[in-house]
Amino acid sequence: MFPTWRITSAISTIRRGPLQAALDLASWIAVLGLPAALIGLVVTAGSPSAATEPIVGLLLLVAPVLIAVWLWVWRVSQLAGKGFDALQDIETSRLILRRPEPKDAPSLEATMDDAMLSGSGWTERDGSALIKAIGRSHPTPGLFVIEVRSSTTVIGGATVHRTGDKTSCSIGWWIGPEHRRAGYASEAVSALVNAIHDAGYPSVYIGTKESNLAVLRICDKIGATEMDRRPQPLPDGSTVPGIWYVHERVVTGST
Ligand SMILES: CC(C)(COP(=O)(O)OP(=O)(O)OC[C@H]1O[C@@H](n2cnc3c(N)ncnc32)[C@H](O)[C@@H]1OP(=O)(O)O)[C@@H](O)C(=O)NCCC(=O)NCCS
Repeated sequence: MFPTWRITSAISTIRRGPLQAALDLASWIAVLGLPAALIGLVVTAGSPSAATEPIVGLLLLVAPVLIAVWLWVWRVSQLAGKGFDALQDIETSRLILRRPEPKDAPSLEATMDDAMLSGSGWTERDGSALIKAIGRSHPTPGLFVIEVRSSTTVIGGATVHRTGDKTSCSIGWWIGPEHRRAGYASEAVSALVNAIHDAGYPSVYIGTKESNLAVLRICDKIGATEMDRRPQPLPDGSTVPGIWYVHERVVTGST
């Protein structure tokens, strides 16, 4: 099936930062154009005939541009894949969960320590791809930065993903090392779960390692219930015991 969502994502990137998008595209074309030019020269030198000229022309001009544009589209849309973008900013008593802006990239990067990567099942590459995407205004649907309202300090992030059915989403989150153990995750997650329910999704899934006691505690505090235990694959190829929770919207019937 034609990936129209990738094209939509790329168009949105161009709208958000036309200059940055043009520079990105130009660098992709330059990177691919040079080897293509070398191949063209080799082909021409090897069989200098009129018959090879159109092929050389194609290699030199059209193909690298098309490939570069497609690779750029692929890259900017990569993070957008399953992100859930139907939520507005969320405010709690101390925090705001909002869409990232390019200026957030350095402060969000500072929240990504080893514990964050391992707790979220991310590689360093995943983390730096996300930071680059934010810095370049690429769309990152489903990603929120968590900011302290009083100081406007970015202290962490949260992700919301579609699960494939129309009644549920899955979430993940982290808080930077300097701000842990202050109740921020509990506050942010509780509000995020409610916002997802308010958006019409009765079930919110949370998956973590069995050893992540903070997440188990947060799930308990917000009233999520254990759903499943199964091995959780990690980016390095290993697996750890994983645990899945679901938070269901409680519907109180009127009497
Ligand atoms: C998990 C994480 C988000 C918790 O953030 P936090 O802001 O410190 O959490 P809170 O302060 O709201 O604490 C929630 C509960 O967990 C407990 N807790 C926090 N860290 C804990 C730890 N390392 N070990 C055991 N319990 C812990 C707190 O005491 C609190 O329980 P309480 O209310 O009964 O006192 C944070 O440690 C983190 O970012 N870790 C790395 C990334 C990660 O694991 N993300 C989760 C992926 S789903």
